[in-house]
Amino acid sequence: MSGSRLVALGHHQPARVLANADLERMVDTSDAWIRQRTGIATRRIAGEDESVTDMAAEAAAKALADSGVEPAEIGLITVATCSAIDRCPSIAAQVAARLGVPAAVCFDLNNGCAGFCTALACADHSVRAGAARHALVIGAEKMSDVTDWTDRSTCVLLADGAGAAVISGTDDRDAAIGPVVWGADPARGHLVRIAGSWQPRFAQEGQAVFRWATGELPAVAEEACHRAGIATTDLAGIVTHQANLRIIESLTRRLALRDDVVIARDVVDSGNTSAASVPLALSKMVERGELPSGAPVLLFAFGGGLSWAGQVVTC
Ligand code: ACO
Repeated sequence: MSGSRLVALGHHQPARVLANADLERMVDTSDAWIRQRTGIATRRIAGEDESVTDMAAEAAAKALADSGVEPAEIGLITVATCSAIDRCPSIAAQVAARLGVPAAVCFDLNNGCAGFCTALACADHSVRAGAARHALVIGAEKMSDVTDWTDRSTCVLLADGAGAAVISGTDDRDAAIGPVVWGADPARGHLVRIAGSWQPRFAQEGQAVFRWATGELPAVAEEACHRAGIATTDLAGIVTHQANLRIIESLTRRLALRDDVVIARDVVDSGNTSAASVPLALSKMVERGELPSGAPVLLFAFGGGLSWAGQVVTC
């Protein structure tokens, strides 16, 4: 196969909605501050009875059911996550067992919030190389497990959820997942952290990350389009990492886009689900029928590392 394409998507979010008004009762914050600085209105938080593996498996089961691909045909499962508590077996292996996938290579991948786009590229490369014909790529996070619920600067941002994609080999160049643009700036890696072996907690230098994301990343998004052989004005949709609505607005304002381009703003309802945010937002957009079939959509994510990854896909 000369490439791979997205054939199905699925997502899952916990039932519990945590609104800004709820957070006002937990820390010294306000609905107005959260909306103005982040755009977030609500987020979903999993209970103790729902693990990151549960959410990954739910999203994956939906994508697999919709794909028409049999479990036995899946040759690779990868889960992008930075909030896994279990080290072994991998979440991917646990998902395989639950879905009845008998013999796929299974591994988890941690590239912070850029994890799903990174995993999608790894799976795409594996299919291109003939190492798998079909692959399951999942972004899943239980960020509430690594949240300091007394820290108002981070607990208002983070959330839980999962999104998944089935990809299959194709010789149709127009439908194929585009070349990945990825990289890292490790010298600034300390700006986003989930550190501590006993009770890891998320922390970040918010303003510095904000400046980096809005200042340096539009060029990377343009490069992903260029490498896919399209102009940014050809895009029908953009799904960036859902960290902050102001970042999404600033980043997309700096790209030359058509007026009718559909921009993912799932952060408003779902908060920041790290590596899950891109597949979660994309799956919802497709489910709502917001993206024209077969039109190019830019996926683009950034975060801990500091890292970034993005590619053009068609849905
Ligand atoms: N409620 C009320 N006040 C708050 C809150 C809160 N929840 N949090 C912080 N403040 C206060 C601060 O204490 C500070 O007060 P001071 O001026 O008296 O010192 C003031 O608000 C401003 O704080 P800043 O941190 O400067 O606020 P900023 O406008 O930068 O917004 C935010 C913070 C939302 C984190 C923003 O910087 C941001 O989104 N940065 C980018 C984050 C990102 O993209 N991360 C991506 C990788 S990590 C991941 O996605 C998992």
